Amino acid sequence: MSSDLSPIDKAKFVAAKRAAQFVTSGMKVGLGSGSTAAWLVQCLGERVRVEGLAMTGVPTSRRTAQLARDVGIPVMSLDEAKTLDLSIDGADEFNGKLNLIKGGGGSLLHEKIVATASERMIVIADASKRVETLGAFPLPLELISFGWQTTKALVEETLIGLDVLGRTASLRMNGDAPFATDEGNYILDLHLHRIGDPRQLSMIVNQIPGVVENGLFIDICDAIVVGYGDGRVEVT
Ligand code: 5RP
Repeated sequence: MSSDLSPIDKAKFVAAKRAAQFVTSGMKVGLGSGSTAAWLVQCLGERVRVEGLAMTGVPTSRRTAQLARDVGIPVMSLDEAKTLDLSIDGADEFNGKLNLIKGGGGSLLHEKIVATASERMIVIADASKRVETLGAFPLPLELISFGWQTTKALVEETLIGLDVLGRTASLRMNGDAPFATDEGNYILDLHLHRIGDPRQLSMIVNQIPGVVENGLFIDICDAIVVGYGDGRVEVT
């Protein structure tokens, strides 16, 4: 399957295929969202169909839930599963401390809830997602739609006191309308360029009324499976 892929898709595919090997029979597994996680779901579906792997998936988005069902993975909600053995998800950036920016696809809230409920979280990513310092990728904040412009102004004001390089924020759009998450919330993308203290930023923005969650995953990820365009895989 992987011979026809572009180098970037091959890197995502090999990372996903390797991570799928961490799933063993009887596990309840959080299934992430995005293009790398979609490869994971395909690989796990193949293991379910071909090897008879007995696993249950807890999807982090409607799109992942649909794909999981399509490839034959039994799914349940987090409330049915309660706790998970493992979650496997993509990331927009990761650093050497295994801290992440997530939410490029807008599923950060469910992804963080699911990853936190899991005994282990493994990230799958192509090597371009590795950074020295988090922040080149815009940091997504999930906001409730009520009063979002007031919340945005408060977020921008709060950023003035924090160790970041940029301080602009833009509402994520889907054509002419605001992008809506699976919860019906909005996404505010923060263009920070460099985040000096991700832990502090994460705690402070989550205190602002109207902010539901942010895309920084601090001390949540346990291992990263990095794929390369030539088919190599590294586990860190
Ligand atoms: C979605 C996410 C994704 O995992 C992240 O955006 C990476 O996506 P991709 O694998 O398509 O590069 O956090 O909310």
